[in-house]
Amino acid sequence: MTASSSATGIRPIIWADDHLKLIDQRVLPNEERWVDCRSAAEVADAIHGMAVRGAPAIGIAAAYGLVLDALAGRDYEAADRVLMESRPTAVNLRWALLRMRELKSQGADAKALLAEAIRIHEEDLAQNLAMGEAGAALLPPNAVVITHCNTGALATGGHGTALGVIRSAWARGRLSQVYNGETRPWLQGARLTAWELLYEKIPARLIADGAAAHLMQREKIDWVIVGADRIAVNGDTANKIGTYALAVAARHHGVKFMVVAPSGTFDLNCPNGAAIPIEERPPNELTEFRGSRIAPEAMQAWNPVFDVTPASLIDAIVCERGVIEQPTEQKIRALLG
Ligand code: MRU
Repeated sequence: MTASSSATGIRPIIWADDHLKLIDQRVLPNEERWVDCRSAAEVADAIHGMAVRGAPAIGIAAAYGLVLDALAGRDYEAADRVLMESRPTAVNLRWALLRMRELKSQGADAKALLAEAIRIHEEDLAQNLAMGEAGAALLPPNAVVITHCNTGALATGGHGTALGVIRSAWARGRLSQVYNGETRPWLQGARLTAWELLYEKIPARLIADGAAAHLMQREKIDWVIVGADRIAVNGDTANKIGTYALAVAARHHGVKFMVVAPSGTFDLNCPNGAAIPIEERPPNELTEFRGSRIAPEAMQAWNPVFDVTPASLIDAIVCERGVIEQPTEQKIRALLG
């Protein structure tokens, strides 16, 4: 089995009859290693430890995590709790667990829960393909775009959100160049997005995160295209740290800013960005690199891993249900009910 065995390219999450296989995103692209999970707790560890990451992907993995404990006859509420607490910002995790909880409350057995987890997985791929088309249609011919973090097949059920738009645009001959930010400190851009872009043979250049504003000043960039971990009802959007800086720079340079996310990423109970919980990870993710110190021993660090882009800086949110231009609460409620 390989990470590249499906028609859409890369499959990071595989249900293997009685357990879950996750490609270990911590060691890609140097190594293709798989993590085998046999309980909800092991899936929660894989989510918290970043073996699986990306908002839709952790929702899908969590749904399978519940199935593992249901098959083994373990306590459902305990499984739900450990998965719910595994990461705080991406609302797709909560969305998938609530969807499974709803079915469970109607008396679903392990087999029915598995069927639902597979549905969540397959629906995500279909949604990404729809968003890919809708987002690509917004780009001018020969578009030059910047993207951030990894929002591709690795982060989703396949194809990707922002990277899905890039894939679809490339397939339709609408794209001439992608710049992808390295995405400190986990390097999702340098390791994972670069790997996916090379796999698709899409013309791409890696940039340091701090080079983006300079690039917009020097070269004609058409769109910044990013994913999302949670979209508040007013359109404020949490995504990987550095996204907000990209949005500010984009507005200053007249570059358009697109957010691509399925309906499970919207949190209609969250009034605005200030109410979105922002995950802070351990300081050593900044002070060390692959086990070696890069900052002096006594150095303190602050490591928020997401930030919030205000709706006013977003030109379009692309969802599988449609495109919202200049997002407002009214438009979001009209599309998502
Ligand atoms: O910390 P990560 O790697 O899980 O963060 C991922 C992102 O911020 C992505 O941009 C987001 O989840 C959208 S992925 C389709």
